[in-house]
Amino acid sequence: MSQDIGHRTWDEQTLRRRIRELVVEYYRQAHSSRPFVPGQTRVNYAGRVYDERELIAAVDACLDFWLTAGPRTEAFEQRLAKYIGLRHALMVNSGSSANLVAITALCSRRLERPLEAGDEVITPAVGFPTTVAPIIQNNLLPVFVDCVLGTYNLDPEQLEPALSERTRAVFLAHTLGNPVEMEPVMAFAREHDLYVIEDACDALGSLYDGRMVGTFGHLATLSFYPAHHITTGEGGAVLTNDSHLARIAQSIRDWGRDCYCRHDSPPEGACGRRFEWEIPGLDEPYDHRYLFVEIGYNLKMTDLQAAIGLAQLEKTPDFIAARQRNFERLHEGLKPYKEFLLLPTWSEQAAPSWFAFPITVRPEAPFSRRELITFLEARNVETRLLFAGNIIRQPGYRHIPHRTVGDLPNSDLVLRSTFFVGVYPGLDQARIAYVLEVFADFFKRAT
Ligand SMILES: Cc1ncc(COP(=O)(O)O)c(C=O)c1O
Repeated sequence: MSQDIGHRTWDEQTLRRRIRELVVEYYRQAHSSRPFVPGQTRVNYAGRVYDERELIAAVDACLDFWLTAGPRTEAFEQRLAKYIGLRHALMVNSGSSANLVAITALCSRRLERPLEAGDEVITPAVGFPTTVAPIIQNNLLPVFVDCVLGTYNLDPEQLEPALSERTRAVFLAHTLGNPVEMEPVMAFAREHDLYVIEDACDALGSLYDGRMVGTFGHLATLSFYPAHHITTGEGGAVLTNDSHLARIAQSIRDWGRDCYCRHDSPPEGACGRRFEWEIPGLDEPYDHRYLFVEIGYNLKMTDLQAAIGLAQLEKTPDFIAARQRNFERLHEGLKPYKEFLLLPTWSEQAAPSWFAFPITVRPEAPFSRRELITFLEARNVETRLLFAGNIIRQPGYRHIPHRTVGDLPNSDLVLRSTFFVGVYPGLDQARIAYVLEVFADFFKRAT
C-alpha cells in the first residue's frame, strides 16, 4: 500500500527510499520482539502490535509534515468506512471524543427530533466511564440497566422496565468485543422511536447476525488507543450511515463550523460558493469557513496518527483472527475451573472480535478476586478490572442525577469479582500456555 502524496523530485524520492531502508534497519535493531522468558517477561493484557510498516508510515507522514488532519486522515476515514460497510467514518482524537461527538450530534438543533435537556438515555451500569460522561455533559439523564453475567452486556430484558415518557435513546457498549443481543434492542428502539448509539470501542470487527457491530445504530464509535484492536496512539472514530448526522458530527468535531472542505478543495470551497453564505442580519455575504452552526469542539485526529492507522487497518483481519485464537485457547484451558470461575458467554448470533478475556470469581469460590489477581500479577500475568464496574459506585458518579432499573446486582458483582486477562495478537502460544500454567498453579494451591 502506498501512502505517498503529491509529486516529489527524484532527489526527494531517493532520500525517502534511504530513510525507509534505515527505518527498517532501525526497527529490526530496536523494536523486534525479545524472546519470551516464562515468569520474567510480562504477559501484558494488551499492547501495540506493529512492525516496520507502521514506523515507515509514521516517518513518511513526518517528512510530509502536514501535522493536522489532511490527506491521510481523509484516506483513513474512507478506508475504515468501507471496511465497516458504512457511508461515513469520522476520525477523532479518542474513543471518548467519539462518544462525546455522537451524543452531542443527537442534541443538535438541526435535527428534526433532537435530544433535549432532561431526556433519558438507557445505558448499562457496567462499562467505561466515557460512555456515560457525554450523557451527563449534555444534560441528559442516564437510566442505568443491569448487565448479563458472562456477556457483561446490557440485559435486553431490562429495556422495557427502563422506559419512561422521556426515553429517547439507548447508548450501549459491546463489552470487551462481545456483541450485544442487537435483535431485541433494535426491535425495542423501533417500537419506541429511539436513537441507538453503539459504543464499539472494544469491538472492531465483531459480528452479530453476520453484520458488523457499529452498523445497527444511528451512530457508533471506535477507539484506537493502544489496547484496542488497531491503534493510532490516541484516536477514535464516529461511524454512521446517515449523511445529515455525519455533517453535524463533523461540525461538532471541527469547532462547530459548517464548512466541510477537504485538504484538496478548491479556493471556492467544497460547497462551490464559499464566499456567498448568509448570516441573518448581515447585508454582506460571509465566508463559509467561518460560519458556525453548532456549539463545537476541536477533536480532530492528526495525519501522523492516520498514517499509522492506515497501516494498522490492513492488518485488522489478522489481528482479529489472532485474538480469536488466543480467546479459544484460554476458554478451553480454563474450563476445568468453571466451578469457581464464570467464563465468558456470547450470543449464538455473535461472532465476537475479542478485546480481552473476562472472568468473574464466583461468590461461592473459596478465594477472592484479589487473591487470584495478586497471584497472577506476582507471576507477571497482567490483569485489568472490568473498567468502572458499576459506574454509580464510582466517586465521580455517585451524585449524578440518574435512574436505575432495580438494584443492579450483577453490576455490583462485576465491581467486586470480575477482571480480565489479555488475548491481543502480541500473545503467542507460549505466552498463553504460560498464563494457563499460572492458573493451574493457583488452583493447585487454592482448592
Ligand atoms: C467501551 C469503551 N468506550 C470508550 C472508551 C474510551 O476510548 P479512549 O481511551 O480512546 O478515549 C474505552 C476505552 O478503553 C472503552 O473501552
